[in-house]
Amino acid sequence: MLRKFIRPLLHIACAAPAIWLIYQNWLWLNFLPHELTANPIEYNTDFTGDWTIRFLLITLTVTPLAKLTKWRLLKYRRALGLYAFLYGLLHFLNYMVLDYFFDWALIIEDIFKRPAITFGMLAFTLLIPLAVTSFKFMVKKLGKNWQKLHRAIYVITICAVIHNYMMVKADVLIPVIHAMILTSLLGYRVYLNYNKRKIRLKKQTA
Ligand code: HEM
Repeated sequence: MLRKFIRPLLHIACAAPAIWLIYQNWLWLNFLPHELTANPIEYNTDFTGDWTIRFLLITLTVTPLAKLTKWRLLKYRRALGLYAFLYGLLHFLNYMVLDYFFDWALIIEDIFKRPAITFGMLAFTLLIPLAVTSFKFMVKKLGKNWQKLHRAIYVITICAVIHNYMMVKADVLIPVIHAMILTSLLGYRVYLNYNKRKIRLKKQTA
């Protein structure tokens, strides 16, 4: 009975930060008191960037958590990954429209000149094929290649954490916490693969 509400509640929770940000921007554009600080453009970029990396890490946590707790969480992984893409898109759009006003020459120069932006762009570009192929019919169509393609989420999150670390102005505590979470998740994945290989070798020699 309760299970019926999990998915709608998940969508409400995931969309809530974006809805709050849209509302705050509406207040700002209407010259009403808002929470976007004295630099709303920078606030928008930081806010959407923070939620992109959070959703990337949450998506990567689903499989280990499901394995450790035996909860049936895998069915929510796709939606969480799509929210990472959605917030990444908002982050990039904010940079492209509000920061650079569609000045493509400057944007391209920035991407190639600032390594931090290069890592961010790499992460976002690699997220696009994952978002496009996340629909059920694409999962069926790509078969085993789907899993191979979606392993790119690790490379994406590594690039995103490097981007995050290089982009923060003062306190690096949060990017360091992100890096530690990512290292644990990667460590767990390596441990699972090592165990799988060991079992396979045992079966072959038995
Ligand atoms: C998956 C892709 C990306 C993730 C996860 C991500 C994440 C982040 C994070 C966490 C921050 C720091 C926020 C803070 O200080 O609290 C940030 C800042 C920033 N990102 Fe990204 N980012 C991504 C892609 C991009 C792309 C593609 C661009 C532009 C081409 C970009 C441009 C920026 C800029 C300009 C800032 C600094 C904003 C400021 O404080 O002025 N990011 N990003």
